[in-house]
Amino acid sequence: MRIIFTDTYKKMSEEAAKIIAGQLWIKPNSVLGLATGSTPVELYQNLVWLYKTVGLDFSQATSFNLDEYVGLAEDDPQSYHRFMHENLFDHVNIRKDHVFFPNGLTADSVAEGERYEATITAAGGIDMQLLGIGRNAHIGFNEPANAFTRMTHKVALKESTIAANARFFASQDDVPREAMSMGIGTIFRARHIVLLASGAEKAEAVRDAVMGAITPTVPASILQLHPSVTLIVDQEAGTLLKAEKSDS
Ligand code: F6R
Repeated sequence: MRIIFTDTYKKMSEEAAKIIAGQLWIKPNSVLGLATGSTPVELYQNLVWLYKTVGLDFSQATSFNLDEYVGLAEDDPQSYHRFMHENLFDHVNIRKDHVFFPNGLTADSVAEGERYEATITAAGGIDMQLLGIGRNAHIGFNEPANAFTRMTHKVALKESTIAANARFFASQDDVPREAMSMGIGTIFRARHIVLLASGAEKAEAVRDAVMGAITPTVPASILQLHPSVTLIVDQEAGTLLKAEKSDS
């Protein structure tokens, strides 16, 4: 795992933008795996800026989002669908028929998981997967569990995740209790992975993911086994990595 230490959220976002932009420059028809949440917001702003100023081209790219809440319509203001359109897709030249999400309104989550996996495979697999990390080290919505999940599936969100995501909703009661998420296997099959972490509340998750045991109770720890992961941390999220490094 390559680790890029940065001082600020701004620098973390710039480093991430360089990597995603580099991927698109080298392979314009890249298949990107994308994340929502607070962490990638400024990265997406940087990509929009690169599109507008120097013509970073998304016209041949395809994207697959990690996850979507169960029960929210595409146009719901809190849906991840809407998030991605507002933060990226509506501002760059990606084709709207080249962006994919798991369907959170499906009546058959098993069939939906299979459909999503088949769509990823038909697109050639994910070239570069962007990830944030939860305070409990979840990636996608793969919560701490007894086993790593292989495929896109329906998950029940942990109370800690519901509480963490309540900031985007009017109240905690409004946060959906379930989501459709890529599995750990889906994420792992990406050719490259870029993991972003910002803020002190992610420091323990980052340390456990990078330096702890590889276990499904720390979902991001599986990334230690992936051949091509770049972790970009800001000063606060990387504190415990640096502490461990200077102790040893
Ligand atoms: C988002 C996702 C989640 C978030 C994680 C961190 O699509 O899958 O794993 O990346 O919950 O969220 P933020 O960035 O809001 O701290």
